[in-house]
Amino acid sequence: MTKTAVVTGGVGGIGSAICEELARKGFTVVAGYHPAEEDNALKRVKEWQDAGLAISVLPFDVTNFAECAAAAQKIEADYGPVGALVNCAGITRDKTLKKMGEDDWHAVIDVDLNSLFNVTKHYIEGMTERGYGRIVNISSVNGKKGQFGQTNYSAAKAGVHGFTMALAQETARKGVTVNSVSPGYVETSMTGAIPADISTQIIAGIPMGRMAQPDEIAYVVGFLCDERAGYVTGANISVNGGMFTSF
Ligand code: CAA
Repeated sequence: MTKTAVVTGGVGGIGSAICEELARKGFTVVAGYHPAEEDNALKRVKEWQDAGLAISVLPFDVTNFAECAAAAQKIEADYGPVGALVNCAGITRDKTLKKMGEDDWHAVIDVDLNSLFNVTKHYIEGMTERGYGRIVNISSVNGKKGQFGQTNYSAAKAGVHGFTMALAQETARKGVTVNSVSPGYVETSMTGAIPADISTQIIAGIPMGRMAQPDEIAYVVGFLCDERAGYVTGANISVNGGMFTSF
């Protein structure tokens, strides 16, 4: 196995917690971030250096196939073969369908779903040839249950798990596991943008009565990236405080 990990959306709320979890598990981590997130990335780099964590950052746009290819080449040249890939980059553009513009639809599908193809494509051959890999795709409770105001996001996040199940079958005999994690509402800037009255109603509907902390999601991603989790593939693990249950 190889201990290099790539996390897209790696300087965001959940993504940065995942980078930290993987670094503590002994991975050398590369946190991918959108070029427009430079300030946030520099802030994270400083925090990670101060904490002595082996996490570096690299800008690339997950909606741009060629940029993702160049990033993958650079990462493998600088840090060696990638053993774990976490697709965590995501955005919301919440609007009822009646008010949703074409740009709101395409932006969310591009970042939250098309990115899985753009990024994963550049690691899959190496992983299957080496006979080892861990891929974790971040979906959402709202991809499972749907959410008022999120036709774009719910469609993309449901698609994330479709991609996961199909790729898991393609790689199962090659030592590569592919799983998705569906967080519920997590305390990040994304949920911070929900109007306060709606947020209060949402929390009232969560059996645990609170949002998750990012490290509660990261712990599960870390488990799936562990070498010993080798028989778990094609799974979707909910981490949602009981908000939506299914089997
Ligand atoms: N169910 C049914 N009806 C609802 C409703 C609901 N959940 N919420 C609002 N409505 C009704 C309102 O009562 C209102 O009814 P009337 O027209 O009869 O008065 C109507 O719908 C409002 O419709 P609008 O199109 O005018 O909605 P809006 O512009 O006021 O707000 C919204 C729409 C911006 C999507 C707002 O509802 C919202 O922010 N919702 C939260 C969406 C959400 O949960 N986002 C999650 C973000 S975090 C994330 O995505 C991470 C993750 O993975 C969990």
